[in-house]
Amino acid sequence: MSHLVDLIKHEHDHLMHFFTDLDKRFYEADSGQIDATFLELARGELELGIEELLHHFDQEEAVLFAEVVSRFPVEKEYVAKLTRMHEFICDQTQDLQIILESNPVELQKKVSDVHDIVSTIRGALRTHAKHENAFFVRIFEDLEPTEVDWFLAELAKI
Ligand SMILES: [Fe+2]
Ligand SMILES: [Fe+2]
Repeated sequence: MSHLVDLIKHEHDHLMHFFTDLDKRFYEADSGQIDATFLELARGELELGIEELLHHFDQEEAVLFAEVVSRFPVEKEYVAKLTRMHEFICDQTQDLQIILESNPVELQKKVSDVHDIVSTIRGALRTHAKHENAFFVRIFEDLEPTEVDWFLAELAKI
């Protein structure tokens, strides 16, 4: 498998772990631990997670998807489907951000909403990563080392 595919898979695992950790943090808070400090930490973590998620999606859309569609126009529709999933996941993370704007007392009452939305995000990420991993293996598994280097250089520009 090419280093490029390895890198993408690693990124997917990393993003998934991030939302798993965030979910764990809220499960630990079920017993009434939500205060201003907790909330500040959770907001900061979510912000960081969204930043990494957006960076990953931008890299895929601007470099990987664009190049795949240009080389293999037949993949255009499938790439559009993957891109729509990015939009769905982004919308969910924004909804989560809105919930986390609540004050600690309000948020304590909405913990189950947080679990629901994080569970939706994790489910969507898991399915999306599975589809993309298979897709990128199919498209990129036989890349020449010089092409891998080219892709890595392009990704580093984003
Ligand atoms: Fe993606
Ligand atoms: Fe991805």
